[in-house]
Amino acid sequence: MIDHGSILVTGAAGFIGSNFIRYILSSDPKARIVSLDLLTYAGSLQNIRDLPDESRHTFIQGDIADAELVEKILREHKIGTIVNFAAESHVDRSITAPGAFVQTNIVGTFTLLEAARNVWDGHFDKCRFLHVSTDEVYGTLGPDDPAFSETTPYAPNSPYAASKASSDHLVRAYHETYALPTLTTNCSNNYGEYQYPEKLIPLMIINALTGKQLPVYGDGAQVRDWLYVEDHCSAIATVICRGRVGETYNIGGMMEEKNIEIVHLICDILDRIRRSPTGESYRSQITHVEDRPGHDRRYAMDITKIREELGWSPKESFESGLMKTIRWYLDNQTWVNSVMSENYDEWIALNYSSRQEISSQ
Ligand code: NAD
Ligand code: TYD
Repeated sequence: MIDHGSILVTGAAGFIGSNFIRYILSSDPKARIVSLDLLTYAGSLQNIRDLPDESRHTFIQGDIADAELVEKILREHKIGTIVNFAAESHVDRSITAPGAFVQTNIVGTFTLLEAARNVWDGHFDKCRFLHVSTDEVYGTLGPDDPAFSETTPYAPNSPYAASKASSDHLVRAYHETYALPTLTTNCSNNYGEYQYPEKLIPLMIINALTGKQLPVYGDGAQVRDWLYVEDHCSAIATVICRGRVGETYNIGGMMEEKNIEIVHLICDILDRIRRSPTGESYRSQITHVEDRPGHDRRYAMDITKIREELGWSPKESFESGLMKTIRWYLDNQTWVNSVMSENYDEWIALNYSSRQEISSQ
């Protein structure tokens, strides 16, 4: 149970934030949550409908970079815990338009830190600021390198990763300089329910079902370490409750897989449970397209610290998590239609029109 006052969850209408508030409301009967979300293209009120206990949840639409609003929320709702999910989160978009990443991920996090420093002044011991970050701050691994640990030097390669690295450094500095009670978690790739279909797994599921190409960047041999979203939520709750203030904790699924293998798995599951009307395997829709610039080759997380210090480890197997996820997308067509708005089509056209088809290696 989180016993540091009401919880402000930023980015709560996004993928992980919405899963997190659902997780907390159902696992912690006393928790009161205030959600702050700008509702960008990636955030949707559809993601936070039918919560386990609506009466313990308040939603506020707004920007984490709005200092006046953030301070007002912290004071009026007696917030003692901040969990900062709000971010621009998609690497491809950060390559096309990095400005929003600097604004939300860096300036937004700075604004939250400043508000917490002002409002919590004098009672830091009762408060917690958990900043949700990514493994991408560490850069890329070679095939035989050991997994990223908390002491791996930062080497971000995309504007997204650089903006998250920058916010992590601000969080660290606020602890070192002002003793703000911060915690940082760096997590590997998540998958699961409510993920916006610009990311690999939901994009492939939806493209397969709608008869579109399955665009694999480059040779598809890039490796990611996959974690089911609910496991990420339980890790964050664990770090808030028992993490040592000022520390960072790596979170991962111990589930390294090549992108092309993930796409094959999705195709094979869909072939079994929702055959294509063409009668062909969904694998026939796979197309290798031009690679992402600066594409990190491999991510993998060493989770020894969180496992040994806090007793957390992932629970969901990749096979069952992926099956649940695919079934959820099949069963939630209304959600899929509502989040794939006009802006979605524009983005897909922009991202993929510039990528020439290449022969698969
Ligand atoms: P998402 O893109 O699905 O959701 C982001 C949410 O933030 C959206 O609801 C959006 O409306 C909101 N938002 C954006 N700008 C805002 C602003 N200025 N003020 C308030 N709200 C704003 O992202 P996600 O995948 O849920 O990721 C959440 C966090 O977890 C991010 O900080 C991301 O860096 C981190 N993370 C994600 C993954 C992953 O695999 N998705 C892995 C590790 C870490
Ligand atoms: P993504 O889900 O965008 O997450 P991230 O870039 O943060 O790891 O992509 C996961 C991997 O899948 C990454 O190596 C890029 C690759 N990818 C494709 O090959 N095709 C696609 O259409 C997308 C969206 C991603």
